[in-house]
Amino acid sequence: MKQIAILGSTGSIGQSTLSIIESFPDRFAVASLAAGRNIDLAFEQCARWRPRAVSVATEELAATLSDRLKGAGVSGVEVVYGTEGTVRVATLPEVNFVVSAIVGVAGLEATYAAVEAGKAIGLANKEAMVAAGEILTAAARAKNVPLLPIDSEHNAVHQCMRAGTKNEVRRIWLTASGGPFRTFPLNAFEDITVEQALKHPTWVMGRRITVDSATMLNKGLEIIEACRLFNLPPSAVRVTVHPQSTVHSLVEYIDGSILAQISVTDMRLPILYAMSYPERVESDLTFDMAALGQLNFEPPDVTRFPCLRLAYEAAEKGGAHCIALNSADEIAVDAFLERRIPFPGIARTIEGVLQAIPENHPGTISEVLACDRLAREMAREVLIRAGHEVTAPRS
Ligand SMILES: NC(=O)c1ccc[n+]([C@@H]2O[C@H](COP(=O)([O-])OP(=O)(O)OC[C@H]3O[C@@H](n4cnc5c(N)ncnc54)[C@H](OP(=O)(O)O)[C@@H]3O)[C@@H](O)[C@H]2O)c1
Repeated sequence: MKQIAILGSTGSIGQSTLSIIESFPDRFAVASLAAGRNIDLAFEQCARWRPRAVSVATEELAATLSDRLKGAGVSGVEVVYGTEGTVRVATLPEVNFVVSAIVGVAGLEATYAAVEAGKAIGLANKEAMVAAGEILTAAARAKNVPLLPIDSEHNAVHQCMRAGTKNEVRRIWLTASGGPFRTFPLNAFEDITVEQALKHPTWVMGRRITVDSATMLNKGLEIIEACRLFNLPPSAVRVTVHPQSTVHSLVEYIDGSILAQISVTDMRLPILYAMSYPERVESDLTFDMAALGQLNFEPPDVTRFPCLRLAYEAAEKGGAHCIALNSADEIAVDAFLERRIPFPGIARTIEGVLQAIPENHPGTISEVLACDRLAREMAREVLIRAGHEVTAPRS
């Protein structure tokens, strides 16, 4: 029986993880949960799953949740909050597998603490790997902890890599759907609305990752994530646009063989794979072979999607540039979602920060977080210089 901690239990990946646990009660149990601000759902999850501990974003929310649990007669759930809370949830002694699915760098410290505590990790939180991949992978190697990718592309690569050795891999191909604007008129990009950007053609996901898919910055983060997870240079990580999202990624071997992983577009499958690894478990997540009728692949258009170019540049530089790519994007996506900047303003903000941030290679998590704060401040300055409103940093 695996005892699972879910960081980001109220999010899209968190809820899919709970659905897997529900389907396999003889294999997986909920040990602990971490949510952010969605107290109603965190309350429901505690009442249903009776975790040993639950964390929420703030002390105030923790007090509210505690009262509600008491009022409903739900006992035995320790309610904690903030970064210390997520760390507590991730490192409880009974936890042996942590699903890291908090969005953004908010999930970094708990993921690192879990690795240090020797817990196996199912990693959805790609931003943690982009900001601190070198530190996380080094800690995982030192502790002999598996970092199992849940991101569907990296999960596909992980599966295809079981067919050969690391030295036999020539390159990997990450597939990208191309998002909602693959064929949208380029001269109308300034007028793209939030509603249009939030309509992903093939996946249903959280808001930030959906906008990141529309700019293809998401694929850029995945390039960096892949370099770190599979120890490859950026030149060995290629992107191919595949609108059907049926082939989740491919591994090209030195003899010329290319292996692909194909399955339904349902995140429960990579979650189940990571949680069951190294076994495979029978599931009803079957794929309709008729859907293979048409598969298209085309090279990405970096004029249309400058975020992809910016990500390759950041991947080459590493360190502060990767951290800033993520932080500047987070600020810019928030500004776009709040209708303060146009869609192409996201890439312009990121480029402004990448041009200005000094080269630097943080060696600890606290240095990574300091660099993250600096890049956020720089992103706000770029927005002000471009004449946009900015909001105060979130606590
Ligand atoms: N969704 C997908 O299909 C998919 C695929 C591949 C990778 N990923 C990655 O998985 C991660 C999660 O994505 P998602 O789509 O599930 O996002 P989401 O639906 O927006 O959920 C984000 C989760 O993070 C929690 N959270 C946010 N800020 C927090 C904080 N300061 N402290 C504690 N918890 C906090 C949220 O809590 P509240 O809602 O309670 O505030 C929520 O549980 C991201 O890194 C994303 O890139 C997602």
